Amino acid sequence: MRVTLFMTTSANGMISRPDQREDFLSPSNWDAFLDHARRTGGIVWGRRTHEKVRAWNRKYLDPLRGLRNLVVSTDTGFQAGDEGFGTATSPAEALWRLSADGLDQIMLAGGALLNASFARERLIDAVVLNLEGVIVPQGIPLFAPDGIDLSLALQEVERVAPNIVQLRFDVVR
Ligand SMILES: NC(=O)c1ccc[n+]([C@@H]2O[C@H](COP(=O)([O-])OP(=O)(O)OC[C@H]3O[C@@H](n4cnc5c(N)ncnc54)[C@H](OP(=O)(O)O)[C@@H]3O)[C@@H](O)[C@H]2O)c1
Repeated sequence: MRVTLFMTTSANGMISRPDQREDFLSPSNWDAFLDHARRTGGIVWGRRTHEKVRAWNRKYLDPLRGLRNLVVSTDTGFQAGDEGFGTATSPAEALWRLSADGLDQIMLAGGALLNASFARERLIDAVVLNLEGVIVPQGIPLFAPDGIDLSLALQEVERVAPNIVQLRFDVVR
């Protein structure tokens, strides 16, 4: 199973403000996110990210219907709602479930805590970062502090919007 982490960050690596607002990130990043999700066939994200996105307008989640999507939570009773998401209680279980469904690649979509969990278990194969031309003084970083070092090999650099650069890396094992 190939796992690609896809995230949008400020130029200083913040994925949201401390209160979870992402007002400094352009809406076009969501379209880039959807493009990648469709190409991989499924997404995995953390319980906090799921609850955040569920609170948005439904038009954001509707395009993900038809993909194989999972929310990771330690809570065995967690209900993902009716947006077509399944659940898993660990990164390994998420990959096992998606693999059993026939997927050979998926997109890891945050947030910081789940990214760090996948990194610690050495489950990330590639990283795609959309870097927005903005610096915010405080926020939630790309990886929670309990992550580990990841060595990356730069594959591509592309200007995907006037103020957004996309960096594509493979993880060096
Ligand atoms: N800019 C971007 O591209 C982007 C993308 C995604 C998210 N975000 C932002 O990131 C923020 C949320 O990130 P976050 O770090 O606070 O939370 P998160 O990573 O989305 O979710 C954390 C939760 O995932 C579950 N989890 C994590 N590791 C696990 C493991 N090894 N086993 C089982 N469950 C595990 C736990 O759920 P339980 O507590 O239920 O056990 C944990 O509390 C939001 O503000 C969101 O907007 C930004």
